[in-house]
Order: sequence, then C-alpha cells, then structure tokens
Amino acid sequence: MSQLFSPITLRDLTIRNRTVVAPMCQYSAQDGFANDWHFAHLGRFAIGGFGLVILEATAVVPEGRITYADLGLWKDEQIAPLTRIVDFLHSQGASAGIQLAHAGRKASTPVPWRKGFDETEEERQALHFESWTPVAPSAEIHAENKNFTKPEALDEAGIRNVIDSFVAATKRAETAGFDTVEIHAAHGYLLDQFLSPLANKRTDNYGGSRENRMRLLLEVTEAVRAVWPAHKPLVVRLSVSDWHPDGWQVEDSIVLTKALKALGVDAIDASSGGFEGAQMSVGADYQVPFATAMRNEGGLPSMAVGLLGDVQRAEAIIANGEADFIALARGAMDNPNWPLHARHELGAEDYDLWPDQTKRVRERDRSLGKRAWA
Ligand SMILES: Cc1cc2nc3c(=O)[nH]c(=O)nc-3n(C[C@H](O)[C@H](O)[C@H](O)COP(=O)(O)O)c2cc1C
Repeated sequence: MSQLFSPITLRDLTIRNRTVVAPMCQYSAQDGFANDWHFAHLGRFAIGGFGLVILEATAVVPEGRITYADLGLWKDEQIAPLTRIVDFLHSQGASAGIQLAHAGRKASTPVPWRKGFDETEEERQALHFESWTPVAPSAEIHAENKNFTKPEALDEAGIRNVIDSFVAATKRAETAGFDTVEIHAAHGYLLDQFLSPLANKRTDNYGGSRENRMRLLLEVTEAVRAVWPAHKPLVVRLSVSDWHPDGWQVEDSIVLTKALKALGVDAIDASSGGFEGAQMSVGADYQVPFATAMRNEGGLPSMAVGLLGDVQRAEAIIANGEADFIALARGAMDNPNWPLHARHELGAEDYDLWPDQTKRVRERDRSLGKRAWA
C-alpha cells in the first residue's frame, strides 16, 4: 500500500492523498479577481488526482500584491469566482486551500514576464494596472536596481491593519468554501520580513529580539485561528532558513513552529529563502531536511516542497517520516496528471483515481500494452 496515496486527516479534513499543489502566482488577475485562467489552471490539478490544491498568494490588501495582477481577497466581490473554483476542486475529490499573503516591500513589482512596467496606456486600462509605494517593517528597499521600490515603515496602526486584513480575508476564504488557509510567512514577503533580521530593523516591540520579530506572525496567526472554523486546519508557510549567516535560521524556525503549534496551527509548509545574499545550494529534494526538522523537532506535520517529482523518492519521504505531504509547483504545471501516473508507478492496478470522463485511458493502455495489467 503506497504511503503517498494514503489519506491524511487534519482536524476534520481528510485529504485523499499526500500530494499537494504548492501555491503559484499566475499574475493573471484584474483588480484581484480570479477568472477563467485560474479556473482552468487549478482545475486540471484536481482532475490529475492531487489531494490538496493551494491557490496562489492572495493579497489581503491591495498594497500587499506582488504585482497588480495578483489574486486578492480584500473585498467581498472577490469571493464568487473563488467559490466557483473551490466547488470544482471539490467535485473532483480534491481539497482546496488558499494562501493568504502580503508582499510587504516586495510589492508593486512588474509582472515577471514583462520588461518592467512596459504596459501601454491601452493595456493599463484593460489590465487594471496599478503601482504604489509598498510598506514594510523598516524603510529599507529589498534590493537596488531590481524593480523594487523603497517602502514606508509600518506604524502601529499599519500593523493593526495588517492583522485585521488577514482576519477579514480569512472570513472571506471561509465564505468561499476553502478547506484550509495557508498563511504566507515565507520567501521574504511581509511576515517573513518581520521574522528576518535581514529586513527587520525596528526598535519597538516588533523588532530586535527573536521573540519580538516573531510577534506579528504570531498575532496574525492567533487572530486568524480565532475566526477560522475550529474544524478546519490552518497551515503556515515558512522560509525555514534564509540561507544567510546573518539571517533567520533552522533553529529559529523550530522555536517558531512550536509557538505556532501552541496557537492551533496544523501543518508547516517548509520552504526557504527570499532575501538577497542567500547562499543556497539547490538540487533535487533540497528542502526536504527543512520539512523533516519542522516535523520531528517542531512537532507539526509538514509539507516538503522544492524540486520534488521523483515518484520513488516521494514515496520514501512519506514512508520514512521525513514529511507528511509532497508539494509540487513547477512539476505540477509540467505534468498536472503527476499523481495519476505516480500511483500506477507505485503499483496501483486500477483507474480509481482517474475521473470517470477519463477512464477510457485504460482502453488505450490495453491496446498499447502500456500497463500490462490494464
Ligand atoms: C510560477 C510560480 C509562482 C509561485 N508563486 C508562489 C506563491 O504564490 N506563493 C508561494 O509561497 N510560493 C510560490 N512559488 C514557489 C512554489 O510554491 C514552490 O515553493 C517552488 O516553486 C519550489 O517548488 P517546485 O520546485 O516544485 O517548483 C511560486 C513558484 C512558481 C514557479
């Protein structure tokens, strides 16, 4: 029996298997609204057999978008197109998550595949173009000469507004029908900017010591948990390490994970990096040790992510207790049917995970002798 395809229950949510689509910005929204692109992009992962599909970084306030084309959940009107997506994911047996996010000083950057802010006036109208001055823990730019803008430091009222906005967006996520919310505290975005000494130069209660730098994430988490239904799991994505000698370290993440667990968080999505000067060594499975540390030393179920996709290795990660979930981002875009195929590679001799509309693949397999048992 494959461990990768065994179900798992977090609070009252049973996820059909351990495969997850990691959040992926599509930079394809207008005024934060999801559209047919998001529906099709996400829908194919549910058809492909993934257990949990997590929607991209969805901004809790307009100024928290990485680009003007990010998804948002800062107003009620943005709920309906998300409900349509959630309903479809559910119809295919997948669970639906949404990553709630604030980009902080990494906000208001160009859409990555464009050459800077090169939109014509006409395109600006059509795409709902906007640019703005970002906010951050401290008035320090993320990086010079890279399309970033010097941010304004958040004051106490601004911090309060961040917390309140996460709460409001969480309530909208519940209305939309999501099974889980993932708080984005990774990749050098706002909550991570507070965690990391590389970006947080504050001298008030939100800066300085590790305890102070953790404060905003813990306050956001506590406030979100208070309004997110008790029967639904809450996930936090962390950059477990900044990969920087002066930055946030694995040991810090272990302390943080224990604190998040005490506040009712149910799993850690274990990523890394996000600041300039990171000395990363990237290769297959490279972040799995982070997921293992959060699981075995932090005490919470964890998601491994980053250059995963080898099926036998994915099975071993779950079977060995290195992580509880296998999350794919680019690998899922490359092959949205990865779970369907992986399940056969791990020995399944049926087409149970294939949607009814696709089960005739079996006839093709039989004709070609592709799967000998078919
Ligand atoms: C197109 C794209 C968009 C992404 N957007 C997000 C995002 O919205 N939130 C996030 O936490 N990570 C985001 N990531 C990072 C992925 O979730 C994932 O952690 C990373 O790509 C490593 O996994 P992979 O090797 O399977 O792609 C994005 C990655 C890609 C390629």
